[in-house]
Amino acid sequence: MASPLVVDNVTKRFRQGDRTVEALSNISLEVQPGQFLAIMGHSGSGKSTLLHLMAGLATADEGHVVINGTDIGKLNDRDLTLFRRRQIGLVFQSFNLIPTLSAQENIELPLMLDNQVNGSVSTKVNDIVQSLGLGHRVHHRPDALSGGEQQRVAIGRALVTDPAVILADEPTGNLDSLSSKSVCNLLRDLSVRDGKTIIMVTHEPSVAAYAQEVAVIRDGKLVARFATEGPEESQKLAMRYQECVK
Ligand SMILES: Nc1ncnc2c1ncn2[C@@H]1O[C@H](COP(=O)(O)OP(=O)(O)OP(=O)(O)O)[C@@H](O)[C@H]1O
Ligand SMILES: [Mg+2]
Repeated sequence: MASPLVVDNVTKRFRQGDRTVEALSNISLEVQPGQFLAIMGHSGSGKSTLLHLMAGLATADEGHVVINGTDIGKLNDRDLTLFRRRQIGLVFQSFNLIPTLSAQENIELPLMLDNQVNGSVSTKVNDIVQSLGLGHRVHHRPDALSGGEQQRVAIGRALVTDPAVILADEPTGNLDSLSSKSVCNLLRDLSVRDGKTIIMVTHEPSVAAYAQEVAVIRDGKLVARFATEGPEESQKLAMRYQECVK
């Protein structure tokens, strides 16, 4: 079985005025099926840049990003759009829901864009809605939902196409601590219970502790990768992380 995600020797540079910034330098990492990996690092270390490359939202200057055996850098625009829609589930800090659609319609959206809405789909969407604990809220629009509920809808939208990987950039960044905990538990369950492959960017040790492994980036370089010991041991993780970035 192909690894759901391989990042192979990736470098990314940006022009900033008259100078070039190397946002990522020779990063390599592989993620196994069903793995939940947290990517940590200080502000500006390159976390979002890496996630954008994994999502095919930006292209690497050097190296390759391979998802389920497909080198996404080799796809043309049209194929990349289709590939992203089917194989990559994205979750952002700011939820990015469509305000005029209900929770259920937001979750269905990727299937609608792919002309896949039929009877079996509504069962699938229903199952997702139930597993997210959104049953009683499905017909509400985003502005009638709490932040935690909105993020659950966004996670549902990321799940609905059964993508190879779910990529989340600071998914708890806009949530209070209770909602943050419940979203972390949900992501952990999706990996442990349902075998979903999840890569989550965060700078919070208490959030990263829900993942199975942590990869630490400093100044665009991967400086450490280690297993976590669960949410109860987030203090230990915080100390280890500090050692990596100091
Ligand atoms: N579109 C861009 N144009 C120019 N420079 C960029 C661009 N995107 C990112 N950078 C630079 O690349 C580096 C990494 O940025 P990135 O957004 O990946 O950091 P981050 O780790 O996600 O930070 P944060 O925790 O603040 O979200 C920074 O120096 C940033 O200024
Ligand atoms: Mg970022």
